Amino acid sequence: MAKPRILVTRKLTDPVEARLAADYDATFNPSDRPMPAAALAAAMRDHDALVPTVSDRIAAGMLQVEGRRVRMIANVGVGFSNIDIEAARDAGIAVSNTPDVLTDATADTAMLLILSATRRAFAAEKMLRAGRWGGFSIVDGLGTSIQGKVLGIIGMGRIGRATARRAAAGFGMEIVYYNRSPVGELGFEARRLESIEAVMAAADVVSVHVPGGGAAPLVTAAHIACMKRSAYLINTARGDSVDQDALIEALARGRIAGAGLDVFAEEPEVPKALREMETVTLLPHIGSATQEVRTAMGHVAADNLDAFFAGKELPCRVV
Ligand code: DGY
Repeated sequence: MAKPRILVTRKLTDPVEARLAADYDATFNPSDRPMPAAALAAAMRDHDALVPTVSDRIAAGMLQVEGRRVRMIANVGVGFSNIDIEAARDAGIAVSNTPDVLTDATADTAMLLILSATRRAFAAEKMLRAGRWGGFSIVDGLGTSIQGKVLGIIGMGRIGRATARRAAAGFGMEIVYYNRSPVGELGFEARRLESIEAVMAAADVVSVHVPGGGAAPLVTAAHIACMKRSAYLINTARGDSVDQDALIEALARGRIAGAGLDVFAEEPEVPKALREMETVTLLPHIGSATQEVRTAMGHVAADNLDAFFAGKELPCRVV
């Protein structure tokens, strides 16, 4: 029997590409750049499945393209806001994601940003690399200790919990959080507050862990206005989960102390105003970027493809 035809839209790690090449009639995008929308739409007609990443926008029009052959999308990412999920459901296209394997790496990145922002690491390194360091000082470049401070988690899912656990157990932070629905036993001390506003107002550091892709940002200008002047905002989830313009305005006016961002509203565009601020640490969406984790994510996507073409239940079905 002919092997299913799959399109892999971006470069994956070598072991994952080798597995897909062995098991499928796989087309690999030779460049590690997002494919143009027209090429992706055309590929919908002559492949059985797509293996995209979170940087590939798969809109309704693409899923409804005349003569579509794709029946399965194995997204390499836990987030799937790049795919119009309702349109996929309507078209009867199965979609899977890659949860769990990236939880720890992403929580590590949240901690990295919390520490970098509160300790003003970017400004200090910039000064040193510019050859402006005059030597040790007791009073220059002082940051803020996080020990005993309040970490506010917006979205107590897998990555929110892993971040809170690290902050509580490893760094002595007190945890408050907002989650739409009650969460079960966390295994560490944390207080659930009734609203996003309450968490924003109580926290010294706010860390955002909610999916993107909504019609409007979940964390709004009004929420940011509730933050303490001394507080920091961290985002390792999706850029469109936070009102980016309002965040820039708050940072520019000194309404909050700083931020640590791994994700942006219109990636790869990062507003100049942010790039010029010394009070923010900026990373290029590397939350899960370790060799081990990116390979594990690829294998989870491959496991989902295998299950689909074997007629079995998908291990990580989204729709
Ligand atoms: C995801 O998986 O959704 C991340 O944003 C990319 O690793």
